[in-house]
Amino acid sequence: MTSNVRPDTMVRITTPELAKAFIEEQVAAVRAQVGDKKVLLALSGGVDSSVVAALLIRAIGKQLVCVHVNHGLMRKGESEQVIDVFGKNLDANLIYIDATDRFLDLLAGVTDPERKRKIIGGEFIKVFAEEASKLEGISFLAQGTIYPDILESDGVKAHHNVGGLPEDLNFELVEPVKLLFKDEVRVVGETLGLPHSMVYRQPFPGPGLGVRCLGAITRDRLHALREADAILREEFDKNGLAGKVWQYFIAVPDMKSTGVRDGKRYEGWPAIIRAVNTTDAMTATIEEVPYSLLHHITDRITHEVSGINRVLMDLTPKPVGTIEWE
Ligand code: XMP
Repeated sequence: MTSNVRPDTMVRITTPELAKAFIEEQVAAVRAQVGDKKVLLALSGGVDSSVVAALLIRAIGKQLVCVHVNHGLMRKGESEQVIDVFGKNLDANLIYIDATDRFLDLLAGVTDPERKRKIIGGEFIKVFAEEASKLEGISFLAQGTIYPDILESDGVKAHHNVGGLPEDLNFELVEPVKLLFKDEVRVVGETLGLPHSMVYRQPFPGPGLGVRCLGAITRDRLHALREADAILREEFDKNGLAGKVWQYFIAVPDMKSTGVRDGKRYEGWPAIIRAVNTTDAMTATIEEVPYSLLHHITDRITHEVSGINRVLMDLTPKPVGTIEWE
C-alpha cells in the first residue's frame, strides 16, 4: 500500500499529458496490487468514484465489479448516465440496483434532517453489503478517496457522505486517486474519456434530493422537486451558468399556498432556487442570476411541473444560511 502523504516533489496534474503519465503509472500499480483478483467499487456517479471506475476499467477490465445503488434520491437522469457511460460505453461489469422503494419506505414520515441522513447512509451500506455478500471471489475494495479526504477526515470520504463504504467489508483497499486534489481528479477523468458533464458536475450531497425535499419525503413532492431541478439545470446550462456557479439546485418545502390556473384556485408547493458560489463550502455568496432568466425559469417550472405553483429565490449567504436547507 502506498503512503498517505503527498510528496512535495509530486507534480500537480494540470494537463492531459501529465494525466496520461499518471494514468500509466496507476494502471501498472493497480495491476501489480490486484493481480488476477476481483475488485469491488460502489459507483455513485460522482466525480471521484467515476474516475476511479474509469481508471480501474483501463487497468483490469472486467475484474472490476461496479455496484450502482439508486437510492431513489438521485437527480433526473443520473442513474441513466451511469448505466450509459459505464455499462454501455465502457462495457464495465456493472450491477445496477434500484433500491428506491426500500429507501422511500424507510423515510416515510421522517422529518428530522439528521435522522433522514442516518437512514439514507445506513440503508446504503446495507444494500451495498448485501450485494457484496452475493458476489464470489472479491478480494479488494476500490474507493474514490481523494487528498482532501485524507487531510480533512482521516482518510474517510466526507464525514456524512452516503458514498462512504461499509467498514466491516474486510477487503484490502485500492485507492488510485488518494493523493490527488479535485481539479487533478477532473483532468484525469477527462483524459480517460469520461463526459465533461460527469467530470465537472457540481457537488451533490450523498443523501441527494433527500435533503432538498424538505421535511417528510413524499413521492409526489420528490417527483416535482426532481423535475423542477432538471429545468433549473437545463436553463443554467443553456445560459452559460453551469460552469460558472459553484452549486445550484431547487428545494421544495412541505407547505402549500394558493394558486390560480384556468380560473380555478388550487394548492401547490413553492420551488426555491438556490445558486451559490464558494471556494470551500464554509462560506458562500449568492450568484446574481439575471432577472430575465429567473422569469423564464419561473414560467417553465410553474407550467411544466405538476404541483408547483410558485418559484422563490433564496438570497441568503452562508453564513447565516447553510448551503442546503436541511
Ligand atoms: P451546508 O449545507 O452545510 O453544505 O452549507 C456545505 C456543502 O456540503 C454539502 N452537504 C453534504 N454533502 N452529505 C454530503 O455528501 C451531506 O449530508 C451533506 N450536507 C451538505 C452541500 O451540498 C454543500 O456542498
